[in-house]
Amino acid sequence: MNSGESIYSSLGEEKIKTLVRHFYIHVSEAPKLRKLYPEKDLVAAEERLFLFLIHVFGGPSTYLEKRGHPMLRRRHFQWAIDEHMRNTWLDCMFRAMDKVEIETDIREALMNYFVKVANHMINR
Ligand code: HEM
Repeated sequence: MNSGESIYSSLGEEKIKTLVRHFYIHVSEAPKLRKLYPEKDLVAAEERLFLFLIHVFGGPSTYLEKRGHPMLRRRHFQWAIDEHMRNTWLDCMFRAMDKVEIETDIREALMNYFVKVANHMINR
């Protein structure tokens, strides 16, 4: 992602953490999506997505040390992701973005990024 570095440095870790926290609050309220997450609470999932995002947005690469190469599409293949599931995921993320103060150009870059990756996850 070309603008990755500017996303991490302009948003900062705290906002990315807040974004991910709100994302999972919305996931926990979306039953069809929530069912895909095996664990009782979403704490570990929250940590993984946070570390992944700070990595792709140009921050520390702790994700790689802990989880190895992301291989996101492959990792997501175990869940049936159709257009509807993608929309539910994006809806949670866009609503989370509304909870964080984000400059317009960074918001646009984030939306483009999430739409692109979410489309790539469709596997059914
Ligand atoms: C399109 C709909 C999507 C669905 C239904 C979905 C669902 C899931 C589920 C159920 C997990 C397992 C939770 C866990 O244990 O970590 C997961 C993991 C993960 N997802 Fe998604 N996801 C979607 C899109 C995305 C997108 C767009 C991104 C990135 C921008 C993403 C990034 C990740 C990451 C980094 C993990 C943790 C991978 C690991 O280290 O094991 N996902 N996702």
